[in-house]
Amino acid sequence: MQETILVTGATGSVGREAIKQLSMQDVKVRAGVHSIIKGENLKRLPGVDVVEMEFTNPDSLHAAFTHVDRVFLVTPFTEGEVEMAKILIDEAKKRGVKYIVRLSAMGADAEPGIQLGRWHREVEAYIEKSGIPYTFLRPAGFMQNLVNYNAGSIVEEGKFYSPVGQGKVGFIDTRDIAAVAVEVLTSERHEGLAYELTGPEALSHDEMASILSEVTGRQITFVDVPEEAARKAMAAQNMPDSIINAMLELYGIYKAGYSSRITDMVAQVTGRAPHTFRQFAHDYRECFIP
Ligand SMILES: NC(=O)c1ccc[n+]([C@@H]2O[C@H](COP(=O)([O-])OP(=O)(O)OC[C@H]3O[C@@H](n4cnc5c(N)ncnc54)[C@H](OP(=O)(O)O)[C@@H]3O)[C@@H](O)[C@H]2O)c1
Repeated sequence: MQETILVTGATGSVGREAIKQLSMQDVKVRAGVHSIIKGENLKRLPGVDVVEMEFTNPDSLHAAFTHVDRVFLVTPFTEGEVEMAKILIDEAKKRGVKYIVRLSAMGADAEPGIQLGRWHREVEAYIEKSGIPYTFLRPAGFMQNLVNYNAGSIVEEGKFYSPVGQGKVGFIDTRDIAAVAVEVLTSERHEGLAYELTGPEALSHDEMASILSEVTGRQITFVDVPEEAARKAMAAQNMPDSIINAMLELYGIYKAGYSSRITDMVAQVTGRAPHTFRQFAHDYRECFIP
């Protein structure tokens, strides 16, 4: 019998890709969306049904978890993320879910690590305690962050800003994270493991700007900004202090070069090389052009 796989956060960067790729497999796919309107185009994919979920409200999760075999557990990077994830894990346990693949983050197991990693580790430990078999995916920063957070200033001014200096980062394409998730969700070979996922190369933001410039035919420049300027910009977007502090701590790690390690886990798990930044820039070119 076909298994049913629930993907939470299904309209997000990783969830949406996972749904697309799962729809090509011999499984039933349930897309857990925050808003049915945003999930409208997922309905057109073969074998995909769409269900509304509000992670902060346990009562809303009932339908989503009915007859689910496996879950790709994706939660948003927000102040309440740990609590949301725990609510989802409790529901999974109650409903007899047989496997959880958790989207975590690189460095979740580092000690003492950084706040972002510690939040993810708390969720991982909760899954371990639940007794549900699991695999943890611990990706580096996403290439698609440039689309989600920097495309506005790139389109308008040809510039993007961050307090990361010349630190190199092994950014990964979310399509590769989704490909790993799909392999793990549809096989039995990965139980109890944690995979650190990166792209194929570590690049500085200057190097990324120069690739973006070549691919788009526009002059695109990276601007290194002081931490305080970044703090003000995030506060102006009404981000809570806990999240601002966690982001600044992460940027400090980038700047110091601690996120430049590359792994070959994408190729090992999927059998395919991960996207290069140049491929990403080419595929998302239109997002960076006025
Ligand atoms: N970005 C990075 O570089 C990076 C690196 C490593 C790990 N991560 C981890 O990746 C995870 C985020 O994944 P992502 O970037 O794919 O997510 P995302 O693009 O931010 O999408 C989050 C998804 O969750 C949904 N959502 C938000 N609040 C909800 C709620 N209260 N109830 C139900 N659904 C809700 C959103 O729907 P709406 O948009 O409709 O609200 C959206 O579908 C985080 O745990 C983050 O720490 C990120």
